Amino acid sequence: MIVHVLNGPNLNLLGQREPGLYGREGLEEVAARCRSLAASLGSEVDFRQSNHEGELVTWLHECGADVASGRSVGAVLNAGAYTHTSVALRDAIVGASVPVVEVHLTNVHAREEFRHHSHLSPVARGVVVGLGATGYELAIRALHDLARDHGPLEE
Ligand code: DQA
Repeated sequence: MIVHVLNGPNLNLLGQREPGLYGREGLEEVAARCRSLAASLGSEVDFRQSNHEGELVTWLHECGADVASGRSVGAVLNAGAYTHTSVALRDAIVGASVPVVEVHLTNVHAREEFRHHSHLSPVARGVVVGLGATGYELAIRALHDLARDHGPLEE
């Protein structure tokens, strides 16, 4: 199986960007952690990052097609700031029937008010916030458990 891990804007700067908040681990290290956990579950990670909303929409469509064909368990999605602004990403999750676990490195609820609302949470299978890169690992495990227990297509 594949597990998609999709990262949104500014996450390419992880490690340099506000390290007091986001830590010193770079995105490549997060990817390595994801690959190693997925391998222990017998899966491969398709790990991507984009600063462009439309590209993330396209990737969600691709993930939905892979889920429909039984090749993917779904997507871990850290949409960065698009979480708080993007109706297009929400529509892509619903339109392409993607099982998504929304992840945020930081506890968005303990931060500025504008980060408290997510357009994605109501259409996500689950949400993990505030646990750093461990959140990605928990989300990967959850997507595998959900696919095994309910079948990848069931919402
Ligand atoms: C983030 C939280 C968002 O509010 C922010 O815009 C990000 C990162 C996180 O992982 O904590 O870019 O998604």
